[in-house]
Amino acid sequence: MEIALVNVLFVCLGNICRSPSAEGVFSALAAREGLSGVIGVDSAGTAAYHAGEPPDRRAQEAALRRGVDLSRQCARKAASSDFAKFDYVMAMDRENHRNLQAICPAGQEHKLFMFLDFAPESGHRDVPDPYYGGGQGFEMVLNLIEEASAGLLRHIREKHGL
Ligand code: 4NP
Repeated sequence: MEIALVNVLFVCLGNICRSPSAEGVFSALAAREGLSGVIGVDSAGTAAYHAGEPPDRRAQEAALRRGVDLSRQCARKAASSDFAKFDYVMAMDRENHRNLQAICPAGQEHKLFMFLDFAPESGHRDVPDPYYGGGQGFEMVLNLIEEASAGLLRHIREKHGL
């Protein structure tokens, strides 16, 4: 990813379901608002089980039904150095948040957020892990991601005068 004015990293456990979906949906939204060169977007996982793999086929199919192509993404593990590169590190659930807190360098804690804090009306704090469930889980994940992406983009536009 090229360094942009504002850089956002989405983080889940495996980086093959929730965070690649968030990367795709949020990038598409930023592009629709003419901000693709201004906001950089990436994703990572707190675990490395699937490093090097493309997103889960079910996640790809669900995203594509909403016009979002995840096929060029490649899973990687989140690192402490990500906190220097990104302005917003968005945890998909409380477990991801705890794992990110554990690798967050001193002085960078203000960059770590719960993604769904930007969807306060959703009634959820965690984006539920869809990996071991059925197809409906992926639709729910995308609904939550779309709602929080709109809230996050609104926040970034206001905060950075975009
Ligand atoms: P994700 O989903 O964190 O949304 O990418 C998962 C993917 C893989 C595993 C767990 C969750 N796993 O245990 O392999």
